[in-house]
Amino acid sequence: MKRSLRSLDQGSLEGRRALVRVDFNVPLKDGKVTDDTRIRAALPTIEYLRDRGARLVLLSHLGRPKNGPDPKFSLQPVVRALEKLLGAPVTFLPDPTSNEAVTATRRLPRGGVAVAENTRFYPGEEKNDPMLAQQLAALGDLYVNDAFGSAHRAHASTEAIARILKPAVSGFLMERELRYLGEALHDPKRPFVAVLGGAKISGKIDLIEALLPKVDAILLGGAMACTFFKAMGLETGNSLVEPDRVDLARNLMATAGEKLVLPAGAVIARELAPNAETRRVQREEILKGWAVYDIDPATERSFGSRIEAAGTVVWNGPMGVFETPPFDHGTLAIARSMAQATGKGATTVIGGGDSAAAVTQAGLADRVTHVSTGGGASLEFLEGKELPGVAALDDG
Ligand code: 3PG
Repeated sequence: MKRSLRSLDQGSLEGRRALVRVDFNVPLKDGKVTDDTRIRAALPTIEYLRDRGARLVLLSHLGRPKNGPDPKFSLQPVVRALEKLLGAPVTFLPDPTSNEAVTATRRLPRGGVAVAENTRFYPGEEKNDPMLAQQLAALGDLYVNDAFGSAHRAHASTEAIARILKPAVSGFLMERELRYLGEALHDPKRPFVAVLGGAKISGKIDLIEALLPKVDAILLGGAMACTFFKAMGLETGNSLVEPDRVDLARNLMATAGEKLVLPAGAVIARELAPNAETRRVQREEILKGWAVYDIDPATERSFGSRIEAAGTVVWNGPMGVFETPPFDHGTLAIARSMAQATGKGATTVIGGGDSAAAVTQAGLADRVTHVSTGGGASLEFLEGKELPGVAALDDG
């Protein structure tokens, strides 16, 4: 267990500069934040510190700028979005490594908030450079990491800094993420069912291997099921198949036995287009010249009843090409089953990325136990890997 913000003496926060690493890596369009989920997810930590008279300095990366500062990746639009959410002015620190930035943090009023420019504008960030971490550490008197979504990166603002600026504690979002993902993985109510999807098995091998000994069943959908169909000797038409993973799929099926549940049928089409002609077929009936783009309704029902009978469900990856209706049907059906399962008392956890987007699109995000804000981070956590941004925090 890592030391939490909650463990710090509340009186001691008054007037102190809390340097908070958040994950404000949010989508932007025309200079505006188009999805503020990650910003809202950090509000409990921000409000808690403000209410106790701390002065807040927020650090985040945004996107993957390659050659230093690039206005396209500036955090300024985030400052405006945060001001709206807080109903209070937010100071922008254009160069968090400068003396001016340190002075600005000292001038913040109690409860005041500043946001520093994109940490990835500095080459030292991704190199986990202690010199950069030292410069950033000068902006605060204590360190709070609430950036679960970035915790799998050993970067200066997530890892090196936590070894320099003490105390280094987890924020409430970080705590919540670790609690729900951790409980699912290490102390699940049974049956424990994992629902895995997505295009490729290559990105999910470690996850499948790590989950197999822990779960009662893995329900597997998405295009990656086609590589398993190929391994079973079935016709896969023009479906996305990873030829170099067919042997691996065969081995996984042999190891997993009945735990690995593949779709019994699919929705196929000749092309991936909104008005394409579709057919529902058994997996043995996939046609040459056609491709699998979703699970079929019979699979939705059989996966759904397993989900609804589970004590714990973890879901990562869509069942079909859910950005292109009608191939969103299977994924949305899984989202509904997750909500049903939650209603029956199951712990349901959505592991970030596309499945989080799907559950939000279905309007069901508040009807599951936890939607992770971390894509890569939740994947690595579920794979059983240590997250450097967590490991570097003080032990509780
Ligand atoms: C994410 O969006 O998953 C995190 O913010 C990490 O971003 P990165 O993959 O660019 O490190």
